[in-house]
Amino acid sequence: MRGYSICGGNKLQGSLRIQGAKNSALPILAATLLIKDKSIIHNCPQLSDVDAAIKILITLGCVCVRDEHTVIVDATDAANFEVSRALMHKMRSSIMFLGAMVSRMGKAVISNPGGCELGPRPIDMHLSALNRLGIKVSEQDDLLICTAPNGIRGADITLRFPSVGATENVIITAAVSKGTTVLRNAAKEPEISDLADFLNRAGAKISGAGSDTVTIEGVSRLCTVEHEVISDRIVAATYLSAAAVTGGCLELKGCPAYNMTSVLKFFSDIGCSIKAKNNSVFIRCGERLKSSTKTVTDVYPGFPTDAGPLILPVFTVIDGQNSLEETIFENRFRYVPELNKLGAEIIMKNQTAYCLKRQRLHGADLSCTDLRGGAALIIASLAAEGVSRVSEIHHIERGYYRLAQSLSGVGADLKEIEF
Ligand code: EPZ
Repeated sequence: MRGYSICGGNKLQGSLRIQGAKNSALPILAATLLIKDKSIIHNCPQLSDVDAAIKILITLGCVCVRDEHTVIVDATDAANFEVSRALMHKMRSSIMFLGAMVSRMGKAVISNPGGCELGPRPIDMHLSALNRLGIKVSEQDDLLICTAPNGIRGADITLRFPSVGATENVIITAAVSKGTTVLRNAAKEPEISDLADFLNRAGAKISGAGSDTVTIEGVSRLCTVEHEVISDRIVAATYLSAAAVTGGCLELKGCPAYNMTSVLKFFSDIGCSIKAKNNSVFIRCGERLKSSTKTVTDVYPGFPTDAGPLILPVFTVIDGQNSLEETIFENRFRYVPELNKLGAEIIMKNQTAYCLKRQRLHGADLSCTDLRGGAALIIASLAAEGVSRVSEIHHIERGYYRLAQSLSGVGADLKEIEF
């Protein structure tokens, strides 16, 4: 079984470049289906989730070529409207293809994407919003048969919760349609603005992305487009945490400080020096971090749920009581028992994790539970005395491009092993 072996205690020092954002690349890849031509996407990270999205596009009849971090999708001849169960279950965000498929092919046959490590991942908001746009869904066994018998037409939609995926699905579905769609209580994450930028560059008429009300004036067709995906703010938060737990200092090149205010504030609140300059963020962390913080995850621009697991290991190197409350997903803390194998002594009360004081961590054998929980184990192992071995690293490879090489490139004693 493949895994990482990590000998903790090294201070991280040096610079590394932040990869393109997975959660921006995925909806943008889905949106390429709307374009009966080529889409050229730069800074598209090489990740297993991105590979899965490309496989879905190929299944639907697109021609996809990858050259390093550029992916070219030619959707001219896309005609298939069925995605296999295996592919649908490969990643949660395959639901993102639903609206694009019905808009382009008039039909979609998909299986319910199902839950994931974070708990049941319902799609009720997706389905009710798309129904308002004219998409009818019937269930046969675990298949969803989706059609638009009267075509896709604009509507006034209000989400009961600012769901990132449902917001993206509505934007994609309404981009090529008749009439105007107004989406209220929309999610405001930066990846949504990036999707809208991509579509507008292709001729869509989307305004208000990044705010809670998005207006999409349907157009009849989109044209070929070239786009650069924004950088990944969650990957950037991962490296900031790795610097903090090792008392190191890092330069993160291409770090999107503009959309990481709540994350950067956490690191300065705990005593790290943070400077943002010329598209880089510099973090310098002293030996002793002192403070007591209470972090509550929230929708953007609040503290991101995906960064919650990344700061929990940092609590163990801080003198003071720190807590993290999760408000978005039901089952986000599955990685905590693994952290406690290192001696972290994290206490759980409902949806809040507490770390009551600084802990000396020791090496242990660990197993990743999910993408960001897996990253948390890597971060904690960097601070632990002795060797840790981390298995089930396929979770990490869903969202991190060459994490092991990046960390060892700035001083971590970390290597990939078979065990
Ligand atoms: C996106 O997931 C991200 N994934 C997640 O990142 C991220 O954690 C999440 O947004 C929140 O920021 C991608 O972009 C591919 P939601 P998504 O719809 O769209 C519930 C990572 O680590 N809900 O905003 O699925 C849902 O169960 C991943 O990269 C419904 O009830 O998130 C959750 O509790 C993890 N019904 C809450 O809303 C629905 O129809 C927020 O989900 C849809 C969602």
